[in-house]
Amino acid sequence: MKTYQINGHEIQVIFSQSTIAKRVDEMAFEVADSNPHRLLAIPVLKGSFVFAADIIRAFHEADLLPEVDFMMLASYRDKTVSSGQVEILRDIQTDVKDRDVLLIDDILETGRSLAFAKDLLVARGARRVMIAVLLDKPNKRAVDIKADFTGFECPDKFVVGYGMDMASAYRQLPFVGWVKNP
Ligand code: IMP
Ligand code: MG
Repeated sequence: MKTYQINGHEIQVIFSQSTIAKRVDEMAFEVADSNPHRLLAIPVLKGSFVFAADIIRAFHEADLLPEVDFMMLASYRDKTVSSGQVEILRDIQTDVKDRDVLLIDDILETGRSLAFAKDLLVARGARRVMIAVLLDKPNKRAVDIKADFTGFECPDKFVVGYGMDMASAYRQLPFVGWVKNP
C-alpha cells in the first residue's frame, strides 16, 4: 500500500478511501437488519466524526431514520497509550429511555470508553445499546465488551486518518494509515 511522507511522519495506507466507503455502506444495512426501535445514533467525539458522518448518511439508503446526538469522552489525552480513565467532556441532551441507541466510535481498543458509555446509557433506561466501530483491535481489550457492528479488524498499530488523530493531527486524511515513525 502507498506510503505518504507528511510533516516528518511516514504514514502507510492500511484501509483506503474506497475500501472504507464500501464497508461503511454495508454496515448501514447491517444496522438496519437489527430493526432498531426509535434509533438514536450517538457519535463518540472526536475520533468518530468522519465515520459517523458517512454511516449516518448511508442510513438513508438503508431506510433508517435516526435521531443524532453527540457525546465526547476523554481517555487518551494526547498520548498513544490509554490512561484507563474515562471522563465525560460533553453529554447527550436526549432522553434515551425506551430507545435503541447506537454508539458510533472510531476504534474499540481496551474497550474502557465504550463500556463506560454503554453502562451509562443502560443505567438511563435505554432499551438496547448497540456499538458500531470502524476498527477493532481485539488483542488490546481490558474489559469484556464486543462491538455489534465492526468495519475492519485493525492490526495492533497506531493509526490515524478518517477522523483519528495523533496529538490532534491527521484527522483530515481520507484513508486510515499506520504511522510508521510515531
Ligand atoms: P479504548 O477502547 O477505551 O481503549 O479507547 C479507544 C479510543 O482510543 C479510540 O476511540 C481512539 O480515540 C483511541 N485510539 C486507540 N487506538 C488508536 C489509534 O491507533 N489511533 C488513534 N486513536 C486511537
Ligand atoms: Mg475515541
